[in-house]
Amino acid sequence: MSSSDLRWWKNSTVYQIYPRSFCDSNGDGIGDIPGITSKLDHLKTLGVDVVWLSPVYQSPNDDNGYDISDYRAIMGEFGTMADFDAMLAGMTERGIALMMDLVVNHTSDEHDWFRQARSSRDNPYHDYYIWQEPVDGREPNNWESVFSGSAWTFNEATGEYYLHMFSPKQPDLNWENPQVRAEVYDLMHFWFKKGVRGFRMDVINLISKPWLTHGTLPDAPVVQNGFFQPAIDMVKHGPRFMEFMREMRREVLDHYDSITVGEAPCATVQEARDITHPETGALDMVFQFEHMDLDSQSGKGKWALKALQLPDLKASLSRWQSGLHGQGWNSLYWNNHDQPRIVSRFGDDSPAYRERSAKMLATCLHLMQGTPYVYQGEELGMTNVAWPTIDHYQDIETRNMYRVATQERGQIPARVMRSIHAKGRDNARTPMQWTVQAQGGFTSGTPWLAVNDNHTHINAEAALADPQSVFHHYRQLIALRKQHPVLVHGRYELLLPRHPHLFAYLRDDGQQRLLVLCNFSGQFQRLPLTELPTLKGAEPLIGNLPFDEWQMAPDTLAAWEARAYWLADTST
Ligand code: NOJ
Repeated sequence: MSSSDLRWWKNSTVYQIYPRSFCDSNGDGIGDIPGITSKLDHLKTLGVDVVWLSPVYQSPNDDNGYDISDYRAIMGEFGTMADFDAMLAGMTERGIALMMDLVVNHTSDEHDWFRQARSSRDNPYHDYYIWQEPVDGREPNNWESVFSGSAWTFNEATGEYYLHMFSPKQPDLNWENPQVRAEVYDLMHFWFKKGVRGFRMDVINLISKPWLTHGTLPDAPVVQNGFFQPAIDMVKHGPRFMEFMREMRREVLDHYDSITVGEAPCATVQEARDITHPETGALDMVFQFEHMDLDSQSGKGKWALKALQLPDLKASLSRWQSGLHGQGWNSLYWNNHDQPRIVSRFGDDSPAYRERSAKMLATCLHLMQGTPYVYQGEELGMTNVAWPTIDHYQDIETRNMYRVATQERGQIPARVMRSIHAKGRDNARTPMQWTVQAQGGFTSGTPWLAVNDNHTHINAEAALADPQSVFHHYRQLIALRKQHPVLVHGRYELLLPRHPHLFAYLRDDGQQRLLVLCNFSGQFQRLPLTELPTLKGAEPLIGNLPFDEWQMAPDTLAAWEARAYWLADTST
């Protein structure tokens, strides 16, 4: 085994906390750091090794903390630096490492750097950001920001446009400027020295803007009516990206025993290999999005709904499993603060099958190769919400999209709401459901975003008390990764690639062989036994129905059933 095989985060599981929605300690309706500290035993019981904490830095909250105005200060609504230190100490005591969110593709427009930068072309901070002259009195090109509207905003004082791939309050930093990079490395050292173990890096593959390295600023290809066009593909994995990342590794990461994950929209397997290669890469793993795009119409953006076809999901996840084996490392996720709840998305959140399908989805993902991420509430099988009108929603992406779709593109509100119900980010951001009590025990006040009504039966207190709950299933999966090296290192092989409802795969390290069978449908499915390895002598490892039911129906999976077998025959 090589030294890279032994890196500690390879058999770890990460838990993501979205602080605004996790636990409110002071009744203002907003989750906070003392609230997190009060719930650390929940994480300990679940068995996770690492917490990824979404931003807690000072921010005007245009995008809930992903717009940072001071990287070394804690947001007042969340608490103080002393609260942060106490939370970190509580995690350390429990053997849980803390991974912070590093949001350095952009800052807030209220960051002092930007305030200065925008004041005049001669200001020393001007070159911290990305500027272009107007073209024919308007935006320099047709790029649309991720949050709708142009990616360029005019700045009166200097007579130029600045770039923002997200909201106008999130100006992109100019990574070509060595001083910007030095500032970033400095703030990373600041948090590492406090005892933080690593970073999740927000849209990190957007930091090298191609035309800043070689020449002309291109338009984005026209894929929809109107002037503005999606532009992420135009800036991702730019010409100096790997150089910047290797510099960061040299200047910062090599000095600590850290864990890093780069959020990498539109990344290909090859790009992920470059980023995560154990010798020549820079980060430990990336978040790729391919499997999150399969229920959208190709090229039309996330809101253009399409039913998931299971063979597409299998092909995609399998390409990443094989593509990174031995050449990089996967992160495994179904959920985060930007994605709808997986049980409502790829499972069945009706009372009959919510728990079973949530466990099936967890089993399918957690037995693959990579580091699993569990997003708060996923371990309870929390579901989407479907509020009737846009006024109930808070998310900037959702609200902007609704406005443009209904006011500028003539779409029917009810149809737009259907997309929001399926894909809106607030699905993930409803407060954590701790108890059966009012507001799910999240707050004693009025929550900033409504608590899902189903907290009366979906909540942590009930889940912990029920040995058959989704929570305890996650707990077992997390523990299995620690016990069985084949789950960490074994090769992956997809079986039955074209089956419309069964997801079947093998893990094999030459000593142990595991067969995973998952039914992604609400109907029972007969197993095509001749196309599978023999189950003779196979032993159950984990599933979402009692083992004696497996024996009664050895060749059939019930609706949403998952089974993992140790195979007796370990020859490949
Ligand atoms: C990705 C983050 O996950 C998302 O929440 C945020 O809106 C954008 N990056 C911009 O920072």
